[in-house]
Amino acid sequence: MIDLRSDTVTRPSAGMKQAMIEAALGDDVFGEDPTVLELQDEIAALLGKEAGLFVPSGVMSNQLALRVHTNPGDEVVLEAGCHIANHETGAAGALSGVQLLAIKGENGILEPVEVERAIRSGYYWEPNPSLICIENTHNQAGGVVYPLDVILDIGQIARNRDFSYHLDGARLWNACAASGISEAEYAAPFDSISVCLSKGLGAPIGSVLVGSKTFIERAHRFRKMYGGGMRQVGIIAAAGLFALRNQKKDLDNDHRNARRLADGLAAIESFSLDPASVETNIVMFDVRGGYDALGVLKVMKTNGVLMVPFGPKTIRATTHRDVDEASIDEAIQILSGLL
Ligand SMILES: Cc1ncc(COP(=O)(O)O)c(C=O)c1O
Repeated sequence: MIDLRSDTVTRPSAGMKQAMIEAALGDDVFGEDPTVLELQDEIAALLGKEAGLFVPSGVMSNQLALRVHTNPGDEVVLEAGCHIANHETGAAGALSGVQLLAIKGENGILEPVEVERAIRSGYYWEPNPSLICIENTHNQAGGVVYPLDVILDIGQIARNRDFSYHLDGARLWNACAASGISEAEYAAPFDSISVCLSKGLGAPIGSVLVGSKTFIERAHRFRKMYGGGMRQVGIIAAAGLFALRNQKKDLDNDHRNARRLADGLAAIESFSLDPASVETNIVMFDVRGGYDALGVLKVMKTNGVLMVPFGPKTIRATTHRDVDEASIDEAIQILSGLL
């Protein structure tokens, strides 16, 4: 099976398993797991922030940020296709009591002028906007990299109004690999950043939330409240550290493979996409004519290729470290003869 459903399907590499076996461990609820502390410090430093918090998932990381930055009745401004608004089970309302003001971006990218226009004027009967969130890279828009100048302009809007500014950087590593911009440069305008270790980097579990010491102290308390206090979790943090130090450099391969896949798919009559739109490891394409995404995915599966639906006629393929160039070529060959 050539599994292109997500970059989360990777298995731990041999070196990663060894690092997990050798990890120094302690009880992290007592703050005594040296490997967790090392991972948190290393990622906080890389992103230029004071402190970090290891959490089980990207969803928990984002939701902790929302919980700390807002009060019930507040409004969070974000892009309509983002993960927080579409793929986090309505947690923002359920856990933080906030509502979301979702603005349609241009290919996933919020336009600062639209953000400015959407922000309410402050009448007491309105919800209170207090946080702006950005997603880089933008998953639903096809792994698009947020332009740094747009991030800075929106950051300025947040500053001017005393809002907090959060980055869902589940795939920030991909944005850095594609643009050459460092993690710290991307992170600088934000009050908090969530990064995932379990996507392109190839760790089995884990995300890290970073921000100021005070922010992380509060997030730490809510992590416990949400049931995310873990014990000898250095065994997983070791996988994250290994991924960060040894596997980040391989993301360029995933991006090359995504472009190769996009070129191959574009040459197939039944599919429609612009290969030039592929910036990182995600390829979004439409099925033409009378076909629908679910039907096509079913046929793909019986022929040994897995992808996921992202709309009635839209399919997402994601490259990752467990598919090589040969598998991409094989997938293209299978799909060429399919419909
Ligand atoms: C942009 C983005 N943010 C957050 C998440 C959530 O990560 P997790 O699956 O670890 O909860 C994902 C997962 O795919 C994602 O794509």
